[in-house]
Amino acid sequence: MTVGLQIAIDGPASAGKSTVAKLVAKQLHYTYCDTGAMYRALTLAAMQAKVDLHDEAAVLAILAKITISFKPGEPQQVFVNTQEVTQAIRQPDVTNNVSTIAALAGVRRQLVQHQQMIAKKGAIVMDGRDIGTAVLPQAAVKIFLVASVAERAQRRYAENIGKGINTPLAVLQEEIEVRDKKDSTRAISPLTQAKDAVLVDTTALSIEQVVARIIAITVEKQKDH
Ligand code: DC
Repeated sequence: MTVGLQIAIDGPASAGKSTVAKLVAKQLHYTYCDTGAMYRALTLAAMQAKVDLHDEAAVLAILAKITISFKPGEPQQVFVNTQEVTQAIRQPDVTNNVSTIAALAGVRRQLVQHQQMIAKKGAIVMDGRDIGTAVLPQAAVKIFLVASVAERAQRRYAENIGKGINTPLAVLQEEIEVRDKKDSTRAISPLTQAKDAVLVDTTALSIEQVVARIIAITVEKQKDH
């Protein structure tokens, strides 16, 4: 009988974290938790309530009124209270505003607590920016996924086309650069590689290769538990 470990996957926007994390979770029969979706769901709720996204007290008042939840399945669905927001939180206006919400200290404190509760029992793959450093510093497996900006913009472009979103490649590249900068330079829990995380550069790797690598690392770690 193998133990259900905590697997933390961090990295910049569009490095392939969620695609890879979902597949790893599926293969291991673990739960998948997309923490970016939680920041996105709150951003959407705050935008719908038309509050100033820089106003921490106003955003926290929204957070107090909502429950963000996931419903397992393919795809996993995201809910704000009873509203299904799986698609809505991926729209460009949410994507471009989410860094502002993610920089608010009080928001992070509460969402991190929520994430720690979800991960408590183990057998979880959690992806985000601060999982290995702040949410699950004790995680048995920590992966830091990176890819070149050009490759990430190309991937996001292909993904968008599939969804009928036609943002030009150059615009996507610029948006990714702006988001990288905001995520890496914010005062609280900036995007950084945990000292004990394994760096995986996915630029020249297939999804299957990345998944296989993470599974191999996990199987190795399971021997120690
Ligand atoms: O992974 P994503 O693009 O869905 O993340 C959306 C935003 O949320 C991104 O700009 C960074 C932020 N985020 C964060 O600050 N901490 C996390 N654990 C996950 C996401």
